[in-house]
Amino acid sequence: MTDTINDQNQAPDHALTPDQAAEQARREEELIQRVLDSFESTPDARLKELMQSLVKHLHAFIREVRLTEAEWDQAIEFLTAVGHITDDRRQEFVLLSDVLGASMQTIAVNNLAAGNATEATVFGPFFVDDAPEIQHGEDISGGAHGQPSWIEGTVTNIHGEPIDGARIEVWEADEDGFYDVQYDDQRVAGRAFLRSGADGEYAFWGLTPTPYPIPHDGPVGKMLEATNRSPVRAAHLHFMVTAPGYRTLVTHIFVEGDPQLQIGDSVFGVKDSLIKRFEEQPTGTPTPNGRDLDNQTWTKARFDIVLAEDTHPQA
Ligand code: BEZ
Ligand code: FE
Repeated sequence: MTDTINDQNQAPDHALTPDQAAEQARREEELIQRVLDSFESTPDARLKELMQSLVKHLHAFIREVRLTEAEWDQAIEFLTAVGHITDDRRQEFVLLSDVLGASMQTIAVNNLAAGNATEATVFGPFFVDDAPEIQHGEDISGGAHGQPSWIEGTVTNIHGEPIDGARIEVWEADEDGFYDVQYDDQRVAGRAFLRSGADGEYAFWGLTPTPYPIPHDGPVGKMLEATNRSPVRAAHLHFMVTAPGYRTLVTHIFVEGDPQLQIGDSVFGVKDSLIKRFEEQPTGTPTPNGRDLDNQTWTKARFDIVLAEDTHPQA
């Protein structure tokens, strides 16, 4: 609480007589009412609700912090820079939404808790929709560097019944923190899709995830630096799971013991239920499907995926 603001987002209570403060508050509130009224005849009821609520919250913010004109200029400059760096490959507005927690809040509001259904988290900018298909037990790494990791689990519904043929998209960064789309050639690596079997089972080889920074060479990165925040994401492996009649699940698994979990994930994507043990396997430990790892160490993780029924099926 600063000394310039009172609890009702009203005018500054210092340096003004009570009469002046009342007049100031009346002017500010009258403006809000006029802006709200300007949306009164919006034909679409939902658009009207969104716009009027936005106006209320935006004006409350301006009044609460007593926004200066220089700060308003700076905010416009910042948003302009966010727009300028955004193109087909770089979406700085989504990144801004991510680091403000707005993406995760929208996900929370739209993925209502349903029994023991697996929790959702951020999508991120590195999914591509033409990843190669792999069969049960095959490798998604495509030559990307990192410690091999065997990931296995089942896809079931909230009643524990297996889901046959669910499409499981998986993608992840290499050990240096780069996705294939960030390489300077057209290689496909660290991504694939596979299908669950009749008993709901799936398994594949990936890489033990490592922490990496979100793109931070633009205005969002500058904002993180100015606020003493780290751009680093906790180590994770992305999943998107779809099956007819079920809600699409976009999620990750995180690595138990990753120090970044304590420091904090830059986009607030971590849920306790998504933190999994990646068990270290000593050199020479036989692999589940006989793959010869040439004496490398490897890890093993289990992720049982539970899909919620789709309560809003498309016509
Ligand atoms: C990612 O995990 O790939 C990601 C998510 C949000 C922003 C940037 C990257
Ligand atoms: Fe990621």
